[in-house]
Amino acid sequence: MDIRFGPVNASTPIQHMPTAEVCAVAATIVDDVLSRGRTLDNAARHRLRTTRPESWPEVREIAWGSIRWAYRYRPILRHRLHKPVRQRESVLENLMLCALYQYDHLDEPEYAITSSTVDAARILGRKHSRQLVNAVLRSHLRDRDPVFETTAEFRYATPEWLLSAVRHAWPDNWQEILDNFNLHPPLSLRVNPLHNSREAYLARLKQAGLSASPSQLSPWAVTLEKPVPVTKLPGFADGDVSVQDAAAQLSPLLLGALENHRVLDACAAPGGKTGQLAELTEQGFFLKALDMPDRIHLIEENLQRLGLTAQISAADATQPGQWWDGEPYDVVLLDAPCSGSGVIRRHPDIRVLRRGSDIPALADKQLLLLRRLWPVLKSGGRLLYVTCSILPAENDDLVNTFLKLEPEAKISRVDFSHGIKTRLGHQFLPGKQGDGLYYAMLHKQ
Ligand SMILES: C[S@@+](CC[C@H](N)C(=O)[O-])C[C@H]1O[C@@H](n2cnc3c(N)ncnc32)[C@H](O)[C@@H]1O
Repeated sequence: MDIRFGPVNASTPIQHMPTAEVCAVAATIVDDVLSRGRTLDNAARHRLRTTRPESWPEVREIAWGSIRWAYRYRPILRHRLHKPVRQRESVLENLMLCALYQYDHLDEPEYAITSSTVDAARILGRKHSRQLVNAVLRSHLRDRDPVFETTAEFRYATPEWLLSAVRHAWPDNWQEILDNFNLHPPLSLRVNPLHNSREAYLARLKQAGLSASPSQLSPWAVTLEKPVPVTKLPGFADGDVSVQDAAAQLSPLLLGALENHRVLDACAAPGGKTGQLAELTEQGFFLKALDMPDRIHLIEENLQRLGLTAQISAADATQPGQWWDGEPYDVVLLDAPCSGSGVIRRHPDIRVLRRGSDIPALADKQLLLLRRLWPVLKSGGRLLYVTCSILPAENDDLVNTFLKLEPEAKISRVDFSHGIKTRLGHQFLPGKQGDGLYYAMLHKQ
């Protein structure tokens, strides 16, 4: 296997030199994720509150980037630190990890990064450790590529279990997929057809000085050349557009005409696909969206922004007795909870927080959801199974197990000109066009 250092993608220009405060906040976010197992979104929500909104883009760049590359920089750092940092001092190690990330990825002078990092140790209440931080960083700068045994895990900044799973599943594309995990994701939007055509919205973006291009995957999608905060998107607050990856926008193409149908979106939060279906309800159909109680507000907020409605229920989809009125559905959309292995570039903490042993447990949950939802589907109805995973255990293999258990379930072929046709469904791999989504269409006889 070819194991090299790299690729470390081109440096990222950010607006201001990260200050010591920015480095300190980024380090606490990274520490929350790497040392305490918190999700990146949760950690950022909590920690960003402690700093000025103007510095958020810099904090995010450093925190997201350091987590994205943790499997690269952690071994380098541990090689430099002659003895392991004590657990309660983990924030110091993660502060230094952030510096290693910045040296390679930010277009800023090394001495300035070192100086902000050393000052950040003081902000973090580790004044006594400033010398240690300075010494470790300087020794790293003297010899950026230490000689020690590197592995594919190091090369791709990806844990061994995931690397093997991807390699096994995609023998022809695994390197491309793993490299893609380390890229900054594009910002893709879904244009609301009730408010404007895609061409009209592209013209509005151009007028606002934002370069974007139409997606080849989804007729509603546009991809921005450079991501911007949603507040900069014309008409975002009025529901003219939503943030959604292009590969995640394809359910309506598979579900076809829905007039007079009863449609169930069984795992709906935060409501990306519910919102998209609601944008089509002019066709005249009933739409119900389910999710767990603590996630329902996300669907409500999304629909409110779009000015659209659906019947929303806080309920466990595996317990139809609690939410089903007994009237069968024509269509069930099951966008199942999964490993997220197809969206790692957007959620770099997945690589750190997930374990190989999670996959069988997730597959059990996916199978349970499929089996418990099957009875609510009427004969002749369709169930669209979707994941944002690229692992067969959650996709084709899982659907295959289900088909063996439910003789009334038959596969309807899913046909797209992009992506990869699999034995039972269709797989999009993460890349320029979109994220790694899987679709399989089941038909009830
Ligand atoms: C992949 S996300 C769905 C994304 C959503 N469809 C969208 O497009 O925005 C999976 C969702 O399944 C929900 N979920 C997990 N187990 C569930 C269950 N037993 N009943 C209902 N929802 C569940 C999770 O809370 C999560 O919101």
